[in-house]
Amino acid sequence: MQVIFDSISTQLASTSGEVRRLFHGRGRCFPGYEQLVIDLLPPVAIIRLFTEHPPELIEQLNQYFQQLDNELKPEVLVVQHRYRRESCIEVLWNNSDVDPEQLLQVQELGLKYHVRPLKNQNSGLFLDMREGRRWIKEHSKDKSVLNLFAYTCGFSVAAIAGGAERVVNLDMSRGALNTGRENHRLNQHPMERVKFLSHDLFRSWGKLKREGPYDLVVIDPPSFQRGSFVATSDYRKVLRRLPDLTKDQAEVLLCLNSPQLDSDFLIGLVEENCPEFVFIERIANPEDFLDQDAEQALKVLLFRKAL
Ligand SMILES: C[S@@+](CC[C@H](N)C(=O)[O-])C[C@H]1O[C@@H](n2cnc3c(N)ncnc32)[C@H](O)[C@@H]1O
Repeated sequence: MQVIFDSISTQLASTSGEVRRLFHGRGRCFPGYEQLVIDLLPPVAIIRLFTEHPPELIEQLNQYFQQLDNELKPEVLVVQHRYRRESCIEVLWNNSDVDPEQLLQVQELGLKYHVRPLKNQNSGLFLDMREGRRWIKEHSKDKSVLNLFAYTCGFSVAAIAGGAERVVNLDMSRGALNTGRENHRLNQHPMERVKFLSHDLFRSWGKLKREGPYDLVVIDPPSFQRGSFVATSDYRKVLRRLPDLTKDQAEVLLCLNSPQLDSDFLIGLVEENCPEFVFIERIANPEDFLDQDAEQALKVLLFRKAL
C-alpha cells in the first residue's frame, strides 16, 4: 500500500488544483496493482477498480485520503467498480454540492474543460495527453491548425490559448464537438477562429483542403473503432493526404494509443506514405502516466515537412 500512498502524495503535491492521475497501476510499475488507477478531477477523487479488490484496500485508501491536510483533501471520494454491470459507483464521502455523476468543470494547464468523471469511456478529457496539449499550446502562435479526430477539442482549446490564428476541428461525433464548442466558450475564446466539422474524415478531404493549407496538423485517432477507423489499415490513408493539406515546413503531431503498435509502426508508415515528413521527436508522456514499457503506452510523435 505504501507505494500507492507515495504516488498519491507526490502527485497531489504538484497538482495545484488541476486534473491529475494520482496512481497509475495500469502502467505496470507497481506489481499487484495493475487493475487500480486513481484520478483527481478536482474536487473529486476517483478510485477506479478494473477487477474486484479486497474491501480493506478501499478502506485503507479512504483513511489515507481522510487524514490529508485540508488543502490537499478532495471534497468528494468515489470508488468506481469498472468490472461490475450494476452498482458500480460507491460514494465514500461528498462534502460538496458537486454531483460526481454529472458534468464537471476542471482545469488543466490553466485551461478549463467539461468532463464526466464517472463515464467509463469518453469522459471528455484524455488525461495522458497533457504533454501533447502543452506542446500544441507552446507551438501554435499565429498558425493555421487542423485537428483531426478532435473529440471534445482539447488540442483546439490548447492551440487557441497558444495564439493560433485559426483551428479546424473534424470529428464524426457531433456531440463531442458540441462539448468542444462549450470548452472553447468556457475559456472565452474568440469563436470566429474555430471551426467544427462533424463529418466522417474519409468523406471530407475536399472540404479540409478548401480550408487549408495548414501549418500544424494533429492526428489523434482511435486505435480501433469498428466501421470508423482501424489504425493498422486506415492510418496510412490519412498520411497519404498530408502533403496536399500542409504548407512547407508544416509540423504534424501523430498520436497512437495501442499497446500492440509501437513508434516504429508510425515512423514506417510516414516513410512509406508521406516521405517528405521527417521524424523530429517523441513528446514524452506525463510523469503521472509512467509505464513499464513506454512503447505500449500512448505515443505522440512530431514530424516536420522537409520542403
Ligand atoms: C481518441 S478520440 C480522439 C481524442 C482527441 N483527439 C482528444 O484530443 O481528446 C477518437 C475520436 O475519433 C473520432 N472518429 C473515429 N473515426 C472517425 C472518422 N472516420 N472520421 C471522423 N472522426 C472519427 C471519434 O468520434 C472520437 O471522437
